[in-house]
Amino acid sequence: MDIEEIRRDFPILSKKVNGNNLIYFDNAATSQKPSVVIEGIKYFYENINANPIRSIHYLAEKATEAYNDAREKVAAFINAEPEEIVFVRNATEAINLVSFAFPFKEGDRVSTTYMEHHSNLLPWLRLKEKGVNIDIVSISDDYELNMDYYKQLPKNTRLVTVTHASNVTGTVNDVKEITKLSHEQGSLVLVDAAQSIPHMKFDVKDIGADFVAFSGHKMLAPFGIGVLYIKKDITENLTPFLTGGEMIKDVSLSRIIYENAPNLFEAGTQNVEGAYGLGLAIDYLNKIGMENIEKYENELTTYLYGRAKELNNVEIYSGKSKIFSSIFSFNVSGLHSHDTAYLLDKKGIAIRSGFHCAQPLIEDRLKLDGAARASLYFYNTKEEIDTFINELNNIASKYGRR
Ligand SMILES: Cc1ncc(COP(=O)(O)O)c(C=O)c1O
Repeated sequence: MDIEEIRRDFPILSKKVNGNNLIYFDNAATSQKPSVVIEGIKYFYENINANPIRSIHYLAEKATEAYNDAREKVAAFINAEPEEIVFVRNATEAINLVSFAFPFKEGDRVSTTYMEHHSNLLPWLRLKEKGVNIDIVSISDDYELNMDYYKQLPKNTRLVTVTHASNVTGTVNDVKEITKLSHEQGSLVLVDAAQSIPHMKFDVKDIGADFVAFSGHKMLAPFGIGVLYIKKDITENLTPFLTGGEMIKDVSLSRIIYENAPNLFEAGTQNVEGAYGLGLAIDYLNKIGMENIEKYENELTTYLYGRAKELNNVEIYSGKSKIFSSIFSFNVSGLHSHDTAYLLDKKGIAIRSGFHCAQPLIEDRLKLDGAARASLYFYNTKEEIDTFINELNNIASKYGRR
């Protein structure tokens, strides 16, 4: 991988921020976009724009083709079939869709975990109103999931939902094993892959999950486009989340015959521009190769954790599990994470701070009032890590509690 060449594909990476070269370490929140995606959106509006699927004129056919092509690219990217790919706004909408579409009844159980983002927690907690019981799988002090839980699921567990990679601790969970164990006990499985699919090769057939949720904007695509994978054999038990245009075969005032998936779950005018942009982002990722991306990010992460050993007055909360992704969560002792983020921003370094939409994990389990987080992507460099560590060292020496 020629990182300098890759970086030239991302115009924003050469910007100055607060008088310094931008160091963008907030990739877990959203990734930057390459020119092929930015210019592709312009191309879309100048050459393709029309409402897809409905109209039959030339442009509408082109828009439909662009939309269908994007679905095929997403399917191939995760080794799924095109009809298993539902376009949604983001991972949050994908998970909410399942929470509405799944035929839960009173007394059913759903298991989620202590390391979830709010978007894989709140849709399930809300089901308590329907009499569904929610179980929260515990995590160890090394941020590993309690895998024994999955060997003996509580009776009536209908759905096991779990993040593939934590956005706080970086833990990468063995979702293949969780799926196997859950299926043996008759439960379906949802994998929140928002933090894994952008960074590693993801094969849904190999993992075997029934639902997979992820967001385009964390993998070079525009905002407002995300994916819900639904395994094809289970769609007939699901009811649509939204109803409206282009999700029915036939309708009268007394009878509705619904379309099949994926159209069944895509009522209303679709985000064709977003899907087109996601397709271009996938082409770009494929050109570099997901194996190369994963390998390089592992190298960068190892380098970051190696250099972090030099830091004093810095507590690190990530990277303790056996396998972890390119996430570095920390605090300067005695300094609020927002202050750390503010001070780094003055040097042009963008990180995230606060609860990371995982308040139960950060506040209740880790007993913190927030954490700072640096998160890497394949366009980051060791030199950027050096600058980050040096600046963090300065902050920790000046403000850190000894
Ligand atoms: C693990 C995880 N799941 C879900 C989400 C939600 O993604 P979005 O806000 O794009 O819906 C995030 C976002 O950071 C995340 O880190």
